[in-house]
Amino acid sequence: MYRTIQDSPADWWRSAVIYQVYPRSFADADGDGVGDLPGITSRLDALAELGVDAIWLSPFYRSPQHDAGYDVSDFCDVDPLFGTLEDFDALAARAHELGMRVVVDVVPNHTSSDHEWFSAALAAAPGSPERARYIFREGKGPDGAEPPNDWQSVFGGPAWTRVTEADGTPGQWYLHLFDVTQPDLDWTQEDVRASFDDILRFWLDRGVDGFRVDVAHGLVKADGLPDYTAEEKKGAALGDPATPSPYFAQDGVHEIWRRWHDVVTAHGPDKILVAEAWVQPLPRMALWVRPDEMHQAFNFAYLMTGWDVAELREIIDDSLSSFGAVGAPSTWVLSNHDVVRHATRLALTVFNPQGHGLGPHSPGLPDVEHGIRRARAATLLMLALPGGAYLYQGEELGLPEVLDIADDLRQDPTWFRTQGERFGRDGCRVPIPWEADAPAFGFNTTGESWLPQPADWAPFARDAQRGMEGSTLELYRSALTLRATHALGTGTFAWADAREGTLAFDNGDIRIVTNIDAGPIPLDSLGSDVILASTDLDGALPADATVWLRRDA
Ligand code: NOJ
Repeated sequence: MYRTIQDSPADWWRSAVIYQVYPRSFADADGDGVGDLPGITSRLDALAELGVDAIWLSPFYRSPQHDAGYDVSDFCDVDPLFGTLEDFDALAARAHELGMRVVVDVVPNHTSSDHEWFSAALAAAPGSPERARYIFREGKGPDGAEPPNDWQSVFGGPAWTRVTEADGTPGQWYLHLFDVTQPDLDWTQEDVRASFDDILRFWLDRGVDGFRVDVAHGLVKADGLPDYTAEEKKGAALGDPATPSPYFAQDGVHEIWRRWHDVVTAHGPDKILVAEAWVQPLPRMALWVRPDEMHQAFNFAYLMTGWDVAELREIIDDSLSSFGAVGAPSTWVLSNHDVVRHATRLALTVFNPQGHGLGPHSPGLPDVEHGIRRARAATLLMLALPGGAYLYQGEELGLPEVLDIADDLRQDPTWFRTQGERFGRDGCRVPIPWEADAPAFGFNTTGESWLPQPADWAPFARDAQRGMEGSTLELYRSALTLRATHALGTGTFAWADAREGTLAFDNGDIRIVTNIDAGPIPLDSLGSDVILASTDLDGALPADATVWLRRDA
């Protein structure tokens, strides 16, 4: 019925479409308002029907959930909120049965402050091996009352917190590039490295097909932990090329990825590592996917590109050449759990920095229909590019960012650490709608939802779109089918002549034309059969639309 994994080649990932499942918000079998592993398993058929090659699961490990599970207190167990290890096994088995591989998250830059390693570090004295697993330092100033340096947390506020020693006196400081509950590990320690080898093996032994590696540009910090947050460098926390950071993209991370490459491929030539590395420019990011390091890296530079002909041309060229130069495929991605959904983001009229999020009165908000129209055009453009593509749950339904979340229901640590100045990422994490006429739109049967779903989401529900001609779900399904039958993922790329305001390129026997902001283009001037379109065509390709055409027509 479905493709089988056994039939797919070891380098399946070079052209794969990988669907990100955000467990909290996918499907909730026990009805407590937070999604879980049995919920995911029960809905996997829908993903096989969609036609994805693999799923990537965001963290479901033991965690106090201060950063939605990216604060892990036990890397080798499932948090009871999400189920059990047996539930994970059942999920992986069912995914494999349906022909989909399973990639899981691994979070090596930090642990939760609830991790036993951190409890042991707090209980032990300064200078102890327990403290050495983390980055503890004396403070500055006569009483050590100032943080060791001026680094800022990615979520806002200082990146250091002072502990109270066992005798009750104010003590050392520890580094946390993210929340105060996410202390950074010290990757110069062999003990830490060896522990993570074991964590990778634990999940490989359970049958996972790869790992998405969180903060893969972090882990190694510059010797001496030099100050960094000069005024002109603020905002560069996620890897601005002009401002090399002492805690991101340090050369020392690469030896870790070489070691991981060996650990992972020892379990099979088809096991993969995917870097979440916010590194610019792209030729630098491509260092993460050299043949003996990781397999793929998320192309965030592409994700961040606006709806603009010149910018899109440049980033596509740059992606293909930068990754190509190291023999890696490019990846393409438009949405994930950290960014404003592309059905809203691409039509914003005001720049919105990553991580800041949107509220109901943010400036430059687009009309919902316009945003969806543009998102569909952008998706068809992306899915025709050679390489791997990542989808984020709900984008196949055309979901926009949720803007109207009451202050007291927001959960992202960014919101708290900036005292509400940044909304953060809750708006893209709302549980997705499955059934138009069910409690919580079929997310569960109780109607509970950890973030409130908008009351008007029924038209987005999967069952409302399934089989409905022209729906976003059917558009994605057709695109994935055609992408597979025309082998676009492993295909070739060549720009074609295009009129101003548009982009056109050929991949194998398909021509792709995207009208960004030109007037309607008569279809007969494009001279080929349309096989897929992001919008209704009335004899012409309007702005904010993409078509796939058969070249040999
Ligand atoms: C990147 C993850 O995608 C994000 O959700 C998380 O908050 C940070 N890393 C910290 O782990």
